[in-house]
Amino acid sequence: MDRSQFWNAVYTEKADGDLSWYQARSTFVPRILERVALPKEAAVLDVGGGGPSAFVDDLLGRGYTEVSVLDVSRAALERCQQRLGECARSVTWLEADITRFVPPRRYDFWHDRAAFHFLTAPEDQQAYFAALARGLKVGGWALLATFAPEGPPRCSGLEVCRWSPEALLRAMGDAYVLEDSFRETHRTPWEVSQVFACGLFRRVREQAARATGASR
Ligand SMILES: C[S@@+](CC[C@H](N)C(=O)[O-])C[C@H]1O[C@@H](n2cnc3c(N)ncnc32)[C@H](O)[C@@H]1O
Repeated sequence: MDRSQFWNAVYTEKADGDLSWYQARSTFVPRILERVALPKEAAVLDVGGGGPSAFVDDLLGRGYTEVSVLDVSRAALERCQQRLGECARSVTWLEADITRFVPPRRYDFWHDRAAFHFLTAPEDQQAYFAALARGLKVGGWALLATFAPEGPPRCSGLEVCRWSPEALLRAMGDAYVLEDSFRETHRTPWEVSQVFACGLFRRVREQAARATGASR
């Protein structure tokens, strides 16, 4: 089963309350806005942002006008669009596998909560970083949230790679700096704790020297 089939089946079969990652409000948006002076017209991309992800709702609610949501699952995007109703018209929807994504523009802010960590093959991780390098402006920001090294080894039944923000930075290469990092303990709808490691990265130059490898 390929990725889109897998995730379409998840979103077809499960309600929001059956999804471990569900949260009614984005816990990252307030933190981002506190740390990053993000103008309302900033171009923002939410990778793996379909389904019940509250990130897009919270940004639109704060008046952001250039929000894009990418997901490999059409069912995830449709669920998100239905929830947003009329507001969905102001969002750019991108149905794509991030490992094959050719960004149509450059973004000021790249957000990923629990999508990158499903990439367990080094070549897929490098393809993700290639998309990030094509899609993020110099001076732009990326918030990547993965299961922490002490977090669960699986998510939605799939094996994940657990990362610290420092290991992620080494894998991303020297075009980025780590501006902030924090742990967040997420509670699933059935009250299980999951520790996320969150890194806020800033792109400081156009070209990366060779990345030092995808160590965790
Ligand atoms: C665990 S969910 C997290 C959803 C959302 N970011 C949130 O925090 O609520 C992972 C999401 O990433 C999407 N996804 C998984 N692999 C992907 C890939 N290779 N490219 C794009 N989206 C992907 C899934 O369809 C799913 O919507």
